[in-house]
Amino acid sequence: MFAAKELDVFDLVALSGAHGVGRVRCRFTNGNSAMDPTYANDLRTECSGNPDKLVNQTDRSPGGDPDMMDNQYFKNIAKFVLFKSDATLISNATTRKQVNDNAANPDKWYKDFEAAMVKMGNIGVMTSPVAGLAEIRDVCWRVNGIY
Ligand code: HEM
Repeated sequence: MFAAKELDVFDLVALSGAHGVGRVRCRFTNGNSAMDPTYANDLRTECSGNPDKLVNQTDRSPGGDPDMMDNQYFKNIAKFVLFKSDATLISNATTRKQVNDNAANPDKWYKDFEAAMVKMGNIGVMTSPVAGLAEIRDVCWRVNGIY
């Protein structure tokens, strides 16, 4: 899917580091079968069967902070990340190397992340509205014409 948008495997790994920040609904937290069993158990308790409850990303290992965009995510793989797409990044030699590089060298990863974000931001940019189908937003986070 990334390739279809002209993002390569390098971009995929760099961008996945965004999963070091933010929250996830419980319904999406059981995809990583390599997860540390204690962590998996804690998550089940925290979620208490509520699929819409939010849990933190990357707050498990020492220094992990779900409100900080840092490279903790790459140090957490694979036992302490939430998605299969995260854990999978160490199952292939190429992506594993990049994961380890990013874990060891946050400044390099920040630069790679910036570049990949710019690439992603340029995907399918609309330059004029398509009547009845799409609009250019006046404010990026809301559709036009409301409040
Ligand atoms: C590899 C493909 C990806 C998959 C399968 C994936 C999957 C997910 C899922 C399932 C969630 C939880 C959503 C929810 O509970 O509502 C999530 C959250 C998030 N994702 Fe991804 N994601 C991917 C790529 C990315 C990329 C490329 C970025 C940005 C560069 C990103 C940034 C985030 C962030 C920041 C959150 C937390 C959102 C919040 O706190 O509100 N993800 N992702």
